[in-house]
Amino acid sequence: MTLPARYYTDPEIFRKELERFYFNRWICAGRSSAIPNPGDYFLCELANESVIVTRDNAGDIRAFYNVCRHRGSRMCEEQEGSLPGKRITCPYHAWSYGLDGALIGAPHAERPGFSRADYPLKPVRAEHWEGNVFLHFGTPTETVAELLARVATKFANWRMSDLKMHRRIVYDVKANWKLIVLNYNECLHCPFVHPELNPLTDYLGADNEEPNSTYIGGVMFLRNGAETMSFGGSRSGRAFLPGLTEEQRTWAGFYAIYPNLLLAPHPDYLLTHTLWPKAADRTEIVCELHFPPEEMAKPKFYADDAGNFWDLINRQDWHIAELSQAGISSRAYVPGPYTKREELLRAFDQDVLAIDGE
Ligand code: FES
Ligand SMILES: [Fe+2]
Repeated sequence: MTLPARYYTDPEIFRKELERFYFNRWICAGRSSAIPNPGDYFLCELANESVIVTRDNAGDIRAFYNVCRHRGSRMCEEQEGSLPGKRITCPYHAWSYGLDGALIGAPHAERPGFSRADYPLKPVRAEHWEGNVFLHFGTPTETVAELLARVATKFANWRMSDLKMHRRIVYDVKANWKLIVLNYNECLHCPFVHPELNPLTDYLGADNEEPNSTYIGGVMFLRNGAETMSFGGSRSGRAFLPGLTEEQRTWAGFYAIYPNLLLAPHPDYLLTHTLWPKAADRTEIVCELHFPPEEMAKPKFYADDAGNFWDLINRQDWHIAELSQAGISSRAYVPGPYTKREELLRAFDQDVLAIDGE
């Protein structure tokens, strides 16, 4: 049966889920190609937290709470950019920090017993995995590389680290984050919700992996001569990704990596979604399409057939998720029966209940 309504509506359960699913696991913050040079940064914002994700002089990715060690002010306000002088400088009294988080300037702070070394920025654990930046707010028991080793092996030929973002679309969806994950993991709705997608893939032909506690997912085979997922199923002159085998050119993968990365390798691009829960009934979703830079550099490079296609499919999915949220919020809602083709959803619900200690 589906979960009781409170899992989608209760602010207290939402808060607990944020703690357990988001602050106590690796979450995907974005793509490392967004910060190619030392001092480039973007902000990762989750609930009340803001984290500065940057690259240090050695080229390593570092992350720090966006909280000044003087009187606690937020420091970076712009969502992304390049830090002037490769320093994080607080706008309040101009304390400044290096890319390693060390306090390097503290005007007027000098007095006996004061040592800058005592006031570095508070770090957040960051790891680079296949071109993605993952953050952990707590103490991880495993690295991302260990957790996702099977996914990395399966999709090694996509060379995800080499791909660059071509397009980003941000959505504000009035639905609980779990409804997005659930909807992502079944295509029984495809014939009804996605008339443009259904001709390209067999909605009953998904090849799902055995669910585990790190991710759920599977692959969908293209059909009717479709070469990729786009309007008309055409690649519009784009090459297949260079490392793929013949067989890997015939399907798209759809992997929900808990809690917030939806990873979808396609024959000629990578599609990612990251989920950012804002309230029990609201989720921000960042959708990005990534292509090989050499493909993007071609004068005739065109990808709107894929980008606009996913914008349409996304909107169809978000709309149905909002309808789910609205119905589940009704006093008439009671849990309903999953069908035998919804076993991934049941597995996800079991994880939600297990992590909630129920
Ligand atoms: S609060 Fe940042 S310098 Fe004072
Ligand atoms: Fe869908």
